[in-house]
Amino acid sequence: PITPITPLDGLPSADTFAFAFDIDGVLVRGGQAIPEAIEAMKMLNGENKYGVKVPYIFLTNGGGKTEAERCLDLSRQLDISISPAQFICGHSPMRELTEAYGTVLVVGGEGEKCRQVAEGYGFKDVITPGDIIKHDSATTPFRKLTAEELRCSKSGRDLSKVKIEAIFVFADSRDWAGDCQIMLDLAMSKGGYLGTLSETFDEGPPIFFSHSDMVWSAAHANVRLGMGALRRMLETLFRDVTKGKELDTIAFGKPQIPTFEFATRLLRQWRKDEHEIDAPPETVYFIGDTPESDIRGTNEFNKHSENDWFSVLVKTGVWQEGTEPAYKPRATVDNVLEAVKFGLDREF
Ligand code: G3P
Ligand code: MG
Repeated sequence: PITPITPLDGLPSADTFAFAFDIDGVLVRGGQAIPEAIEAMKMLNGENKYGVKVPYIFLTNGGGKTEAERCLDLSRQLDISISPAQFICGHSPMRELTEAYGTVLVVGGEGEKCRQVAEGYGFKDVITPGDIIKHDSATTPFRKLTAEELRCSKSGRDLSKVKIEAIFVFADSRDWAGDCQIMLDLAMSKGGYLGTLSETFDEGPPIFFSHSDMVWSAAHANVRLGMGALRRMLETLFRDVTKGKELDTIAFGKPQIPTFEFATRLLRQWRKDEHEIDAPPETVYFIGDTPESDIRGTNEFNKHSENDWFSVLVKTGVWQEGTEPAYKPRATVDNVLEAVKFGLDREF
């Protein structure tokens, strides 16, 4: 049984600085906490020599579940209570597009999870690749739906008459071939209608990815292919099958600036509601393992931001010691515990 540790009551909150954490490769790998992460969280929650609680949020490119479910997972892994009010995942900003698109295709994740996330955000008509394969099994010649998938997938209307207005890749694909085929079909369609073929290949629905990480840090010793690799594959396939047309897709997540703006708003609210601090922090320490998303995003956002966003790179994930990071962090430390100590010592 796990008794989550909550911040020590009665301690003052540090009001001039805060922390923001990447998750995979910093706090967690392959579903297990990185050992130093548990100590790091305790330190922020008041077990430090300065006798303060420090506000912090999480900013991951991962996803595939509701924010509330992901927070429960992370609370168990790190042995603390984590609130959705301090958590952003790759697809969180997609909730701001529910009014812009009617019928959408949602790709990725386990089973029906991402459909549920999308509907929870307020998307009114969510179709999955499973619905399309159920509607026409010839769509993917070598991919047959399991009995469970057949039961969950929705049918009952003629999908060839439905205009799919946008595609959202919410989480990593569990079936790259099938999902690529279906996204290509729509990208090459006349205005988002399945079964049609455009003459100009420029009238398909917009395609949004929840992030663009080429690789990420999971349980394996070496990095694993991520959603950015699927994105690259789709764009390359489109160029090849259309004999040279470009497919412009859109990525959310880090290193995109709007994601850091979203994080700034969340952090401000979290400091106000949880720590009763009503002013922006002077410094936000962002702790990440991937130079291309974490460090790049933090450094670029720092040029626009009224707060100092300070990038710290750890050695427990994607970046390998001895190589030159593509984007240079302001500090490099062994692990997340050292990152927290670094920030605290720099402040006091
Ligand atoms: O799929 C998740 C991965 O690409 C990155 O997650 O927590 O390192 O941003 P994170
Ligand atoms: Mg990471």
